[in-house]
Formats: sequence, structure tokens, C-alpha cells
Amino acid sequence: MNYLNKKSVKDIDIDNKKVLVRCDFNVPIDENGNIANTKRIDESLETIQYLIRHNAKIILCSHLGRPKGECNMNFSLAPVAKYLSKTLGKEVKLAEDVVGESAKNLSSKLNPGDVMLIENVRFHHEEEKNDPEFSKKLASLAQIYVNDAFGTAHRAHASTAGVAEYLPAVCGFLIKKELTVMGNAIDEPKKPLVVILGGSKVSDKIGVIYNLIDKVDTLIIGGGMAYTFMKALGYSIGTSICEQDKINLAKDIMVKVKEKDVKFLIPVDIKVGLEYKPDTESKIVESDSIPEGWMGMDIGPRTQEIFSEALKGSGTIIWQGPVGVFEWEEFAKGTLAVAKAVAESGAISIIGGGDSASAVEKLGFADRMTHISTGGGASLKFLEGAILPGIAALDDK
Ligand code: 3PG
Repeated sequence: MNYLNKKSVKDIDIDNKKVLVRCDFNVPIDENGNIANTKRIDESLETIQYLIRHNAKIILCSHLGRPKGECNMNFSLAPVAKYLSKTLGKEVKLAEDVVGESAKNLSSKLNPGDVMLIENVRFHHEEEKNDPEFSKKLASLAQIYVNDAFGTAHRAHASTAGVAEYLPAVCGFLIKKELTVMGNAIDEPKKPLVVILGGSKVSDKIGVIYNLIDKVDTLIIGGGMAYTFMKALGYSIGTSICEQDKINLAKDIMVKVKEKDVKFLIPVDIKVGLEYKPDTESKIVESDSIPEGWMGMDIGPRTQEIFSEALKGSGTIIWQGPVGVFEWEEFAKGTLAVAKAVAESGAISIIGGGDSASAVEKLGFADRMTHISTGGGASLKFLEGAILPGIAALDDK
């Protein structure tokens, strides 16, 4: 599918029209009810401001968390409405419901340039079921549908896909940017292309490996998934995380990278811990001989050097998944070294969302990356070459 062939807000007349905008406002909320990271909201502002400038009557919608189809005020979008009001400098009213009287009433009173937000679409179980009747009700609030929720584009839900059946449906600027930057990086990467994969599971990343195997020059494996590869090589991995049922797959991947002449790097040394906790006793060991009772929690210093060296001179770097338990200072050094090397490489750097994005932000390298995706699962699916239902549903040019 040619994603870039989809219509955007620029291809449609929105003047004086009611526009339903699906955003991904699924942001972390702290124990005091405050938004802990506003990036996803900030990234949606370009589209919202464009709609305001072009006199649309704007009805925003999103999910927040996983309230399991029930109205649970712990998952209310109220903090988002408050933040949007402050940031846009105009009141963003929050409807008390999604498709009920409050939403209908508020949306009927919108003037051009006004912005409102309806409550969490996942307060209805029909949302995740992509129920046609629910989609129709959502659609009936507006005349045009804009999807700008890249982070949820891999879900075929009512507000991300179903509603597009009933309204002219276009994408916003955030989706356009994500598709353009990541699409270019995989379709025509500036070479050499280096892909760094981490995180806990091989199974999460298989699709990315197979989709990029013909394009990648260097494949670097770190994080929890590296231990499945080490086990496949016959290494002792102690109590490190391992997907037993993916060992043959790891062997197959290693055969394929060899056939394709891809440079393949896995850790040569590992920082191991006795227990899975931040202050556990730790030491550096060779990667082929992790002692019994110890688990790998980060890459070691020699591996950091090898990985950093491999990133020098690269044209494009795609990074999905941290290479260690970066949330804990003792085991963050590997991910920090990789982030630093990516930042210093001068390459086009694409950071998949979710944990990799959090790592780069937490370690202070966010502003030195070319692109940090707002989608965790969605960016993974995109890099796998999978169809994203939230984008497939939009109108072609
Ligand atoms: C995300 O945070 O990855 C998106 O908002 C999608 O959320 P979900 O995994 O609950 O569908």
C-alpha cells in the first residue's frame, strides 16, 4: 500500500465544517493526576492549530489507558482538556460522554475555530470491537474525519478505522510526518543502514528483521532478546530471559544474515545481576559464560565500544528497543552509550516509540535524534511492513 497517497487535511475544505480529529492522547498520568509526558499532545498541536486557523469546528477524541469498555474516571481525559486549554490559549471543553447528550450538545454549539474534546472513547466496549453502530454515532458528530493518532494506527478500532467508513477521511500532519520520515528510512535509506534492536522479546522484532533484512548493512542485537540468540549459539546464559520456542528462529535469522552478508553484532560482554532489582549485586562477565544464578541486565563496556564503533559513519540508524534495563541507573550505561553514539554518528536517526523513545528522552538525547516516533506498537508494525488499519481506512488522493 502506498501510504503517502492518502489525503491529508490540506486536501479537503474544512472551512466552517465540524471535524472529528482522532488523536493519540494516551499519555502517562502521575499519581497526582498530572500529565507526566506531554510529547504526544504537543505533537498533535500542528494539526489542531491548522484546523483552528482554517475555521473548522474541532471535536477531538482519543483513548487513554485501557479502561476495558467501562466509564472509569481514573482514565478521564480531563487532564488533557486542561493542558490543551492552556497550550492553545482557548478553552477546550470536555464532554462528559463520548457519543451521548453532552457530546452532541457541545458539538452543536461549536463556532468556527472552537475546540472541544469528547471523553475517552474506550469508555465504550464497542470502540475496540470496531462496532459499526458506534462508529456511525461517532461519525454523526461531524462532517469530516481526520486521523492524527499515529500511535494507535495499528489498531482497527471504531475511532481509528471504523468511523472512516461514514465520513470523508484524511490524515493530519503528525501521521504524515511519521509516514514520510520512517517510510523514507526504510524505502530509500541513506546507506549504510544500521538497525539496532533491543527490548525483551525476539518475537516482537521478528517482523522487523525479516522486513529489513535485504536493506540493512549492520544488525545490532542487545537487550533481553540477545539472550535467545546467545542460547542459540550454545552460550551459557544463566537465568537471563530467553524465549525457548524462538531459539530455532534465532538460528534461522543468523543463517539469513550470513547469506545476505549483513554485519551481525551481539554482545561480547554482559553486566549481570543476581536478582531483577535496581540495587542487586552485579558484575561484568563474558557473554558466552554467564554464571548459573546470574541474569544479563545490560551490555558490558567492551560491547558498548563495539556497538558505538559500528554506528560511526552510518547513513541511517533505526533503533527499536533499549539494550539494557535503562530504568535503573546501574544498568543504564549500555543504552546511554548507544544513545550517545547514535547522536554523535551524524546519521539520520529514527527512534521507535515506546521504551526506546522513553530511554532517549530520559537519558537526555531526544533533541539530537532526527525522529522519535510517537508510536510504540505502531512504529514496530510500520517497520515490519504491516498494514496499519488506521491509515488504510483513509481516503486516497
Ligand atoms: C500506545 O500507547 O502504544 C497507543 O496509545 C496504543 O495503546 P494500546 O496499546 O492500549 O492500544
